[in-house]
Amino acid sequence: MFDIIKKKVLTSTNNYALKLLKEEKIQRPTIIITNKQTHGRGQVNNSWHSEQNKSLTLSIILFPKNIPLEKQFVISQIICLALYETLQKYIDTVSIKWPNDIYINDKKTCGILIENAILGNDFAHSICGIGLNVNNEVFPKSIEATSLAIEVEKKINTEDILEGITKNIEKYYNIAEQKQWSILNEKYHRHLYKRNQWLEFEDKEGAFVAKIKGVNTYGQLEIIDKEENLRTYNFKEITFK
Ligand code: BTN
Repeated sequence: MFDIIKKKVLTSTNNYALKLLKEEKIQRPTIIITNKQTHGRGQVNNSWHSEQNKSLTLSIILFPKNIPLEKQFVISQIICLALYETLQKYIDTVSIKWPNDIYINDKKTCGILIENAILGNDFAHSICGIGLNVNNEVFPKSIEATSLAIEVEKKINTEDILEGITKNIEKYYNIAEQKQWSILNEKYHRHLYKRNQWLEFEDKEGAFVAKIKGVNTYGQLEIIDKEENLRTYNFKEITFK
């Protein structure tokens, strides 16, 4: 399904994807991958740290036809489930942390940056950037991160992981294009990090205890507090560990 573009060095696979799309050089689903990313971008203007030949840094360009704009969160579900399924072949403590991270043993192993472009009522394209710590040993101090190799205690073949990701994205993308939203939604929630556990959250008003109920169609986190109130949050309005 995917064309593959491999580059030795890129500033950012998401930026390169956007450049090729603007130049109208890409019309089919494509994966752009590099061994070395020099200026990787993360969520909310953060940078993304990767290690040459040890991390997987790639962007998947999709042209969704049957996913309505109001269901854009489905794209995040596709990518999260594909990563979940690929990684859980190696270790069974993988989970999907809202909104866009993959955790192993309570530590961040993968970050996802999805950048959509819209044309009228449809998607023009979706660029899904994936930064996965495969054999990494060094992490930025600011986050508690890990790599797949550290958690399974052996070196991992990055080509095998890439093959798994590609195959699983194709699988979940086809499910989405057939509008089988409930399959994606049910699986996503089954593997959602710390769902239904009492946790400490922090929003702009301060700290409180609540349980994650789930994520709604708009990708907002729904939690239930001790007084049984349902609270709904957008990305960056709330934190939890
Ligand atoms: C995050 O957790 O903040 C998201 C990180 C996303 C990083 C990936 S690496 C490949 C792609 N290119 C980028 O510049 N960013 C994404």
